Amino acid sequence: MPQIQKYPAGWRVLHWVMALMVLTLIPIGLWMASRAEADIWGDLTNTLFSWHKAIGFSVLLLMILRIAMKIRLKSPPYPDHMPRKLQIAAKSLHHLIYILLVVTPLFGWAGVTAYPALVTLGGYHLPAMPFVPEDKELAATLFNIHGWLAITLSVLIVGHIAAAIRHMLRKDGIVRRMV
Ligand code: HEM
Repeated sequence: MPQIQKYPAGWRVLHWVMALMVLTLIPIGLWMASRAEADIWGDLTNTLFSWHKAIGFSVLLLMILRIAMKIRLKSPPYPDHMPRKLQIAAKSLHHLIYILLVVTPLFGWAGVTAYPALVTLGGYHLPAMPFVPEDKELAATLFNIHGWLAITLSVLIVGHIAAAIRHMLRKDGIVRRMV
């Protein structure tokens, strides 16, 4: 059994907490957007929006922490038997997911600032994004971009999970670094 160098515990916790948050955000986002599209308003729709905004904004804040940690942390090396091309593909996919985990919530936040719809859980207001004017048309464009970014992110996450399952089946130790 090869010696596996794991990611530090804090890093692993952050990974799984954020995975849970993003995997919650996507179905809630799709559900609430379809209710809004069908003009179904009420307590449930409002609650879905509130949770989505609160979790989404928390993802954005946690990404600041994650990027700061990533700059300091040197990832454990991939095992020698992993082909170089696969290592590059894996790293590129991770970088793309990082970028989308910042840009997607930024567009959501910009959208709710422009609309404006900053009220979230418990009646608390998110801060307005600086330099974004109140403009419903702009909000619609920002939400549209937010939706496409979220769909792209979902596709990349499916690829990421598929790769993790493949590593698990091959028992090459890659998944154990993050567990
Ligand atoms: C990683 C973070 C996020 C993910 C993965 C995500 C995902 C999604 C998804 C899948 C949708 C449905 C898109 C559609 O069907 O058109 C959506 C819609 C929405 N999201 Fe997010 N979201 C995130 C962060 C945020 C943040 C931070 C906010 C605001 C603070 C936000 C506000 C909204 C709003 C208001 C909609 C509805 C837009 C509409 O009605 O067209 N999201 N999101």
